[in-house]
Amino acid sequence: MKIIVRQAVLEDIPAMHKVRKAVRENKLSINTKIHEETYIPYLETIGRGWVLEQEGIIVAFAIGEHQTGNIWAVFVHEDHEGKGYGSKVQEPMIQWLFDQGLDRIHLTTGANTRAQGFYAATGWTFTGIDEYGDAAFERLR
Ligand SMILES: CC(C)(COP(=O)(O)OP(=O)(O)OC[C@H]1O[C@@H](n2cnc3c(N)ncnc32)[C@H](O)[C@@H]1OP(=O)(O)O)[C@@H](O)C(=O)NCCC(=O)NCCS
Repeated sequence: MKIIVRQAVLEDIPAMHKVRKAVRENKLSINTKIHEETYIPYLETIGRGWVLEQEGIIVAFAIGEHQTGNIWAVFVHEDHEGKGYGSKVQEPMIQWLFDQGLDRIHLTTGANTRAQGFYAATGWTFTGIDEYGDAAFERLR
């Protein structure tokens, strides 16, 4: 199985958005304002993204914002969960964010979702439930 993790480019947006729309939890319906155009600044100016390709097809991606330290997205296509792809695709993003000089990076995700367990299992520190009822995590350099 050929697995590649590389930095995302604008041409990857349709494939990333397809992955995002396919997930069972943290679904897009909770934030219908996200369209393909929405990704552009997150990949070019306010952040950077990484994609994981399995046999040339994008099945996971991660996007982080270097101005704020916020993780904007970590998504794995539901047919490919549990293969370590979430872990693999977030690694270069985390490294890159700390390389930009950030001391702290952070994210929120739906409480009691698979993602909450994933972040707890992959080195993130749970910091509590925020005002929207979401689970908050951080990581220090
Ligand atoms: C959450 C998500 C990114 C996890 O991706 P994944 O590829 O299935 O996770 P991985 O296989 O890389 O798991 C990495 C580690 O976390 C562990 N893990 C994953 N989910 C877990 C859970 N719910 N509870 C405990 N451990 C968990 C795995 O066992 C693995 O541990 P190991 O390395 O010791 O074997 C993926 O399920 C997803 O995209 N979900 C839907 C979208 C979403 O909720 N994204 C987050 C939005 S903020």
